[in-house]
Amino acid sequence: MTTRQPFFYDITLRDGNQSLKKPWNTFEKEIIFKHLLELNVQGIEAGFAAASEMDFEACSRLSDIAPDNVVISALARCVENDINKAVKAIESAPKKRIHTFIAMSPFNMEYVLGKSPEEVRKQAIEAVSYAKSKLGNKGEVQFSVEHFGDCHENIDFVIDTLQEIVKAGASIINLPNTVERTRPKKFINLVEKVYNALPKNIIISVHNHNDLGMATAVTVESYFAGAVQLECALNGLGERAGNTNMYEVAVALHNSGVEVPLNLSKIYELALTISDMSGVKIYEKAPLIGPDALAHRSGIHQDGAIKTKDMQKGAYRPIHPSLIGRKDDEKLGFTSQSGKTAVYEIITEAGYPITLQEAQRISPFAKETAEKIGELSTKNIIDIYFKHVFNVEGAFKLCNMEKIENSINLHFMYHEKEFDIKLQGNGPVDACIKAIQKAGFNLELLHYEQQALNEELMGSGATAMSIMHFKAPTGQTVISRGMDESTIKANIKAIFNGLNIIENLKG
Ligand code: KIV
Ligand code: ZN
Repeated sequence: MTTRQPFFYDITLRDGNQSLKKPWNTFEKEIIFKHLLELNVQGIEAGFAAASEMDFEACSRLSDIAPDNVVISALARCVENDINKAVKAIESAPKKRIHTFIAMSPFNMEYVLGKSPEEVRKQAIEAVSYAKSKLGNKGEVQFSVEHFGDCHENIDFVIDTLQEIVKAGASIINLPNTVERTRPKKFINLVEKVYNALPKNIIISVHNHNDLGMATAVTVESYFAGAVQLECALNGLGERAGNTNMYEVAVALHNSGVEVPLNLSKIYELALTISDMSGVKIYEKAPLIGPDALAHRSGIHQDGAIKTKDMQKGAYRPIHPSLIGRKDDEKLGFTSQSGKTAVYEIITEAGYPITLQEAQRISPFAKETAEKIGELSTKNIIDIYFKHVFNVEGAFKLCNMEKIENSINLHFMYHEKEFDIKLQGNGPVDACIKAIQKAGFNLELLHYEQQALNEELMGSGATAMSIMHFKAPTGQTVISRGMDESTIKANIKAIFNGLNIIENLKG
């Protein structure tokens, strides 16, 4: 395991900003800058000073308020005017850096820059030397090989040039995968080559775009290949499919045992703020911060998630949500793939009483509905719960129950057959069961209890709930419930719900 601490260099305000439909003004950049300081990044690229007046002003303002321990940089092409602007823009920053760059891939040198490799080499060395002369001991120079990921054919030329660039005064060499076109390993091999070829006091940096969705992997593995500075953006903002996502890299390194110098607990709230401020929505499946990142829908996953809910390591999550300041809200979504655990958790979470056995009994009804309409809302599941726990349909139909002085008259049907029974005395549960047995039905009570109810939650004025356990002819124990404003009626409803549950077991 490596003991080097990664250096998080944020590019949200430059690469992220240049990709926005409406780039941020100085005021907005300042808000994000303060969040970056709270996150504890080590370096912040404030902008591209020569790009616009607004960017120049933002670089100056952020430099004015920068603390002593954070590197502030401004981007500049390898041209004097850009470098002059950048130097001027960040002059008040206590720790300043000029970041200059030029493309070195054969393709870009030929078709975009229209320059020979020798011309590019000369321009790069001169620019670095010029930037260093402007800063002296008061700042450092970072040089980026734009399109480094496309430099397989001419890596020897690149390395040779970088050695000269280091001599000219660059102390940070940044290796961008400006466009992610191929497998991570090919890029990492190039990083290793540069790392091995340059003096060990030179900081190797990577800057990976996410065109194929592997920027996080490329950045994390580059760290293990020798890169110390990791250029990342909040929410992965950046040109096209974005830059490397800061949160994913930080958490992946943390999970790999690397000491990450960031306040990870700021991540979740910051992600929401950045989404608001950039207008770039967090997509549902976004790792760590997406609305679905903690949702479980299959029965097996739901079971594992619930069993490990309070543990630091979860069966189906990469981190404990609190690591990134996210509420511990592993959400269970009920679909046709879900099972009893989800019903149990959703109903319990909503505040209603249910046992796992009841959840198992009613989950087929929920699955059936989900097959038709897709993921069920909590309200859908509660409706199913009320229907199949408190109003169980079946061959028995309680048509009427009337309390007359000390007795209760019951009128019920079993299929087409009608029954009238009269229950006497103060023990209506016992009396009712005996009367039902006498009418020819098999019913064995194992357990009985009463619970007071939260009227508001249950609705319909119900304040009493009876819970009964019956032994079904199959030997199974069946749990049934009844609720009503009257205790006696709640008991009788529980008995009839129980009769139907047992009857329905016959299939
Ligand atoms: O993607 C890139 O190559 C860049 C450089 C300017 C560092 O953003
Ligand atoms: Zn970039």
